[in-house]
Amino acid sequence: VSNEKNDPSPRLGATGPNADQIDYWNTEAGAKWVSLQQRLDTQLEMLGQIPLDALALRAGERVLDVGCGCGTTTMELARAVGDDGTAVGADISAVMLERARQVARERAVANVRFENVDAQSHQFDAAFDAVYSRFGVMFFADPRAAFANLRAALAPGGRLAFVCWRGVIDNAWMAVPVAAALEHITIELPTDPHAPGPFAFADPDHVTGILDHAGFENIEHHPVDIELAVGGDGDIDEAVAFLMQIGPTARVLREADEATRATVTGAVRKCLEPYATGDGVRMDSGSWLFIAR
Ligand SMILES: C[S@@+](CC[C@H](N)C(=O)[O-])C[C@H]1O[C@@H](n2cnc3c(N)ncnc32)[C@H](O)[C@@H]1O
Repeated sequence: VSNEKNDPSPRLGATGPNADQIDYWNTEAGAKWVSLQQRLDTQLEMLGQIPLDALALRAGERVLDVGCGCGTTTMELARAVGDDGTAVGADISAVMLERARQVARERAVANVRFENVDAQSHQFDAAFDAVYSRFGVMFFADPRAAFANLRAALAPGGRLAFVCWRGVIDNAWMAVPVAAALEHITIELPTDPHAPGPFAFADPDHVTGILDHAGFENIEHHPVDIELAVGGDGDIDEAVAFLMQIGPTARVLREADEATRATVTGAVRKCLEPYATGDGVRMDSGSWLFIAR
């Protein structure tokens, strides 16, 4: 079944080892990422630039964007490799890819393509010069299999560069509002620190082990500490609305009733006040840049 007239790739069903993630990124998360796309892109722009710089792409190269979402970074990669190069965005979310394809059409970007596939298992048909990701590689049920698959998609000498979050404690923009929420709500804390999710790659030894097992060489990781504008560069109410919809604060409130939600909204607003500036609510973030060959 084709999900778009000019899109030859079939829509991915919620089956296989990543079925839960396929469901999640096509329903609640996918819809939010599409509606908050501009805010997310503003917030993450500087972080996405770091692996792009690390790859030092050359004209004519072929690059794969893993977990490309709404495709902003794929478009940047396409620009970096020029008309003779190709950028392919791979994502399990048909909803987010629909947006990505729409933007590519509107901007008439010819050297970009999007595939609705599971990057853990899809047999990519190209020998890529580089594999890139902005926060799209922490959701695999079997990360060793996924990175072995990505390595197989690379031409000899191909490079890998991605950013992933460090721990929640290194990310004030998530830790501070979550702590405020947890004063009003009790949740069961996850027990497996490596379970698929935003913090699955917080432990760099764990990630290095995965890449090593998958056959990558020259594996390096570097801390990236930057202050970001929470939910883009809007005012404090926009930042609160953003945090109540997306990320760990939203997640702890998943089952909360309206009254708790209202109380937490007030608490989150209060805890953000010290960080509000004329240029957005600015808070610390901590990521890893991983690079390998
Ligand atoms: C945190 S979002 C990041 C999206 C995008 N890279 C960005 O920075 O805007 C994670 C993305 O990874 C995708 N994803 C999760 N598991 C995947 C898998 N197994 N294969 C391909 N994409 C996956 C999700 O659908 C989602 O778009």
